[in-house]
Amino acid sequence: MPLVAKTAVEQELARWEDRVVRGWNEGWYTLPQKIGQQLEPVLGARPGEVIGCDSTSVNLYKTAFAALEAAVAHNPGRVNIVSDAHNFPSDLYVLAEVALQFGGRLTIVPESTPQTIDSADLLAATDETTALVSYSHVSYRSGQVHDSQTIVAEAHKKGARVLLDLSHAAGSVELNLHDWDVDYAIGCGYKYLNGGPGAPAFLFVHTGLQNESKIAIPGWFGHAQPFQFDETYSPAEGIDRFLAGTPPILSIAALSASLELVNQAGISAIAAKGRALTSAFIELLEPLIEMGRIELLSPALAEQRGAHVAILCPNAYQVAQALIEGHGVVVDFRRPDALRFGFSPLYTRFEDVYLAAEALAKVLQNNEWEEYGQEMKPVT
Ligand SMILES: Cc1ncc(COP(=O)(O)O)c(C=O)c1O
Repeated sequence: MPLVAKTAVEQELARWEDRVVRGWNEGWYTLPQKIGQQLEPVLGARPGEVIGCDSTSVNLYKTAFAALEAAVAHNPGRVNIVSDAHNFPSDLYVLAEVALQFGGRLTIVPESTPQTIDSADLLAATDETTALVSYSHVSYRSGQVHDSQTIVAEAHKKGARVLLDLSHAAGSVELNLHDWDVDYAIGCGYKYLNGGPGAPAFLFVHTGLQNESKIAIPGWFGHAQPFQFDETYSPAEGIDRFLAGTPPILSIAALSASLELVNQAGISAIAAKGRALTSAFIELLEPLIEMGRIELLSPALAEQRGAHVAILCPNAYQVAQALIEGHGVVVDFRRPDALRFGFSPLYTRFEDVYLAAEALAKVLQNNEWEEYGQEMKPVT
């Protein structure tokens, strides 16, 4: 937790206590746009292309809907969506539903290896019926980074638009959304942006596509004049039309404070430290890999991965519990046999990397994991 996040939330609580609803005219109302501005350098976006709001899932629905509406308006046969087996499963549920609403279907491109989705496969599945190609720029499981600039250029040649999920990429790798000509992007605020539990997500829409966008959830915050209370919806100009309802001020305050630090450090330095941390960790894992105790799931080359390292190991859930409960090394378990170590570059020290590798070696070599049950907690 960034210490400034705590102070920022306390300040907003004090303002709530003192000013009650007057806070809306004293800064709260424009916080979604402020988050957008703070994210511009992190995402490589131009002014007015990003806004902070809702959850990643809701933003995915809104942007995918806008993409399909626009595609169908130009060509009624473009109703399908292409994604891949390493995209976040929840994204696949949403994308399948959006395709269905337009009379199309979702194609899920299979992995070419357990570590990789081949971008050539994504493009091969894209044809004249494809409205949208949507995938995670950094895979939630393996950490693989895609060459999105090339994928976007190739997808555009086929007449399809591209929607990126940046949940594991924002704040961990360098991005250049505007210049790569990405159409839409979404991502969460609670991973490498360090916005805390329930932090709002964000969405990016390329400048040229905003004013043509049909809005899936035409709520009052996206209205041209919300406080006119018109009976009919008329969308705001630009990115604001993608807002739906009242933003969560306390959560936004924490995210905004965190983003100030991200921008002070600069995304290039943060991404470079991420590569150094994950490389150091992989080097420390080598003895365990050579002994056959674990396998590396993430790409070995630093430029090909985000800021997390995933490994495969037997009894992975129990190993995760032993690391968390026994050593204070907080990892994620991902079914059926993966452990994910996330190295948020601003807050993780090289010493932490060393301690994490040492703890993993102890858990495996001393069979410490046997002390933990297989029954899973709701969040793994
Ligand atoms: C890659 C990715 N996409 C989407 C989501 C869903 O995000 P949300 O819960 O904000 O809708 C997550 C959540 O962890 C994720 O990792």
